[in-house]
Amino acid sequence: MGLQKLWLKINGADRMVVCDTEESLARVLRRQGLTGVKVGCDAGQCGTCSVILNGELARSCVKQMKTIADRSKITTIEGIGTPNNLDPLQQAWITYGGIQCGFCTPGFIVSAKALLDKNPNPTRQEVRAWFTKNRNICRCTGYKPLVDATMAAAKVMRGEATMDDITYKVPADGKIYGTRFPRRESGIARVTGLANYGDDMSLQMPEDTLHLALVIPDVAHAKIKSVDYSEALKMTGVAGVVTAKDVKGTNRIAFPIGHPRAECTGLERPIICDEKIFKIGDVVAVVAADTRDHARAAAKAVKVDYEQLPQYLNQLEAIMPDSVQIHEGANNIYLKWPLKKGADTKEIVEKAENVVEGSFYTQREPHLALEPDCAQAYIGDDGMLTIQYKSQFLYGNINMIAAGIGVPAENIRIIQNETGGSFGYSVSPVTPAYAAVCALALGRPVSIVLTYPEHQIVTGKRSASNSNVRLACDKDGKIKALEYKLCYETGAYVEYTQILLLKSLVCMGFPYYIPNIRGVSMAAFSNFSYCTTYRAFSFVQAFTASESIIDMMAEKLGIDPFDFRYKNIARPGETSSTGHEYNEYYYHEMMDMLRPKYEEAKKRAKAESTLAKKRGVGISIGAYILGDPTDHASVALELCKDGSFVNHNTWQDVGQHAEGSCLMLTYEALRPLNVPLEKIRLEANDTKYSPDTGLSGGSRMHYYAGAATIDAANKLMDLMRKKDGTYRTYDEMVAEGLPTMVEGYASSPQGVTKFLDANTGQGFAYHEKLYSIYMAEVEIDSVTGKTKVLKATCVADIGKIGNLQGVEGQAYGGMSHCVGFALKEDFSDPKKHSTLRGAGILECEEMPDEIELIWHDSVRKWGPFGSGGCSENFQSSFHVAIINAINNAVGVRIYELPATPEKVKAAMEAKATGKELKPEKYYLGLDLYDELEYLDAHPVPDEENF
Ligand code: FES
Ligand code: FES
Repeated sequence: MGLQKLWLKINGADRMVVCDTEESLARVLRRQGLTGVKVGCDAGQCGTCSVILNGELARSCVKQMKTIADRSKITTIEGIGTPNNLDPLQQAWITYGGIQCGFCTPGFIVSAKALLDKNPNPTRQEVRAWFTKNRNICRCTGYKPLVDATMAAAKVMRGEATMDDITYKVPADGKIYGTRFPRRESGIARVTGLANYGDDMSLQMPEDTLHLALVIPDVAHAKIKSVDYSEALKMTGVAGVVTAKDVKGTNRIAFPIGHPRAECTGLERPIICDEKIFKIGDVVAVVAADTRDHARAAAKAVKVDYEQLPQYLNQLEAIMPDSVQIHEGANNIYLKWPLKKGADTKEIVEKAENVVEGSFYTQREPHLALEPDCAQAYIGDDGMLTIQYKSQFLYGNINMIAAGIGVPAENIRIIQNETGGSFGYSVSPVTPAYAAVCALALGRPVSIVLTYPEHQIVTGKRSASNSNVRLACDKDGKIKALEYKLCYETGAYVEYTQILLLKSLVCMGFPYYIPNIRGVSMAAFSNFSYCTTYRAFSFVQAFTASESIIDMMAEKLGIDPFDFRYKNIARPGETSSTGHEYNEYYYHEMMDMLRPKYEEAKKRAKAESTLAKKRGVGISIGAYILGDPTDHASVALELCKDGSFVNHNTWQDVGQHAEGSCLMLTYEALRPLNVPLEKIRLEANDTKYSPDTGLSGGSRMHYYAGAATIDAANKLMDLMRKKDGTYRTYDEMVAEGLPTMVEGYASSPQGVTKFLDANTGQGFAYHEKLYSIYMAEVEIDSVTGKTKVLKATCVADIGKIGNLQGVEGQAYGGMSHCVGFALKEDFSDPKKHSTLRGAGILECEEMPDEIELIWHDSVRKWGPFGSGGCSENFQSSFHVAIINAINNAVGVRIYELPATPEKVKAAMEAKATGKELKPEKYYLGLDLYDELEYLDAHPVPDEENF
């Protein structure tokens, strides 16, 4: 420990640095301004900090400076290319969809450069092995585009192709809608390492900025007796400690639940815990100091005295009859929503020729964004409380925290930082709420960056679920009835619970014609992470139960699961689980497209199976719905003096290629004016200036923002149009007193959709549907039980494709999350799962390189230029295809995810002795029939129903 001086040749220039011997190379490089060196895990697990050190690839976060020799040569992303002189790798990353959130991008490009320096002509498999060996992790892209980009760049470097060959060109007819239109400004910033993410912003904050550290007791449920921070206050650099008593508002993050059957309000969540700790990762104080290290050291010195309460680390424990209430006055199962379609099912099931039953568990799923959560807060020069955060829902976040922090919503401004991955979690403004209350309490700018383990326990997760399901079928293989109880564990707090359950009602039994259904969807508290949104919110859990039981019935009947699905998928005029007629509905055509590939895959599996490696094929139906009855979006379009146009919006870019989609929608909407692409730009994601375009989530943004953009363009062109059909210039508009900026608006058509009935679950609650079918080809190691996904195939219908690169990116990325979810990812042990590797993040070679996407073409009548949404559809059920494929390969069904090698091996061993490892029916409160009887006896009166 001590200071050292070194000369380092960084990106070709000799630079003298002075540093602590214990510091990491990543930190020292970032202090030199080389913030293309990103720090994600800070533990050598993700590769975002990769540099080339003396000719070898190195993860700089785990290289202590005392191990770095004087005169070492270091190459960072900044030494590989610049915005005006891109390296082929950088250009290829832009063109081939290698960038989504971009947080991994500099590390990957540096890694690819190190590979190509050694091996200029690698095979795809060598590239995959290199990224895996060097722990380059990407959470967004599904890896395939990164291998594509490396191969394309290598060709240029070998002189077999030119930079022009790997650069996107606008087609001759000027039509870019439907093409692989790549990122533009945001792409260049990301591939050169110049995009400033939250921690990079932290380095730019003024000198008087305070750095924050959280005090998180190691307990999941407790009464707080005292918080003693007297020792912390004496420690070096500490400026203050903020506790609940310093919060000026209600100290609650508000998410009103809005369901007449709910037993809680949605106002249970404290910002800083005052009386009770409700879950792991709850915060009782925040320490502010001159440096992050000082704040973290002092946080450890805060003493919390508490009385431990029974802690329920899963919902099955929390809902036992003798469990204490986590929130006083609310049962731990706090919301039940019945689904009743057709006749009572009891007798139908009893008399049915064929009945199958199963109980299924899906684990709490961590989003595993590579960038840990971070935020800044300060009072701006306009007097507004300004928060910078990687938010997916800027205006929604303001509404959730305004009363809690004690600042009127109109005095809060949120600006989106570049976002190093989210997948849903950053709709929750938890970290920004800590920053806000500290900035207000201490009167100083603040910055907070969580460690990765903190990130894991503080942020929300996809809820775990338990379900008991029964399916009845006649002797001809036609489904007659479905019964289920499905309980979502939402952790200690309420967030989007109503939507969570609503979507489950739509999804259970989708897209089959099931004349009679009795079910109850429920939400329960536990003392674990709160449930937040995640791609394919709710459908993932419901499809696990629904698409597994379908496969089980096919097996019982001895019918091919493909044929069983084909037979039972609803035909036009038949009704869905929630009772509305299916229409514009393409599953049979999509299955016809998949069938020949399915037959080939089965033959391949049979031919290539060996005793040691068993192969199998599985399919599953996927889908998503978008647009609830209240959904709406605004964008503003501005004509500028130089004839260019600006689209103002809050289309939060969390990696889904918002820039490309927004630019191409604006370009297309303004086609009558022939505006060149370079004359369109975006100014987005600052609530002081940008209108509310809503949530970047639920596959809604392209759909609603697109419609609002068209509306704005039409309004603006109407104003610009002269009597002779030509258009006014900016100067002419101003001279005539006409506005040069107009707002466009889109909303769900009123009267078409309505929330589902609170007593029956019947109704039509969404605006648009997205469809998919998945096929997984897997190989199981007979000795270890390890599953490898060899190939993924998806047939999808999402309407007209807007940005092909963006859509493919969501498909590859969504399906890669499914592979991880099916086989290894989990967040049930806060210690073991506190790191990316510990939580099981998927690596390059674990994702198949063969991913086939097949598009069924259709037009969404209301969607912009015929488009629907896309994202969630691709993560909805590929995981069940994998589970079904495991069953096909080795004859064992995994009921409780993830299907780890240990579970698959144990199931195979049990099968060898004639047994089946199957969970007992879960205790989920009352028996289904009793539950329904109780709910019938306590109906929601008409005036309170939706
Ligand atoms: Fe260095 Fe993850 S490997 S930040
Ligand atoms: Fe790779 Fe986001 S683009 S982690």
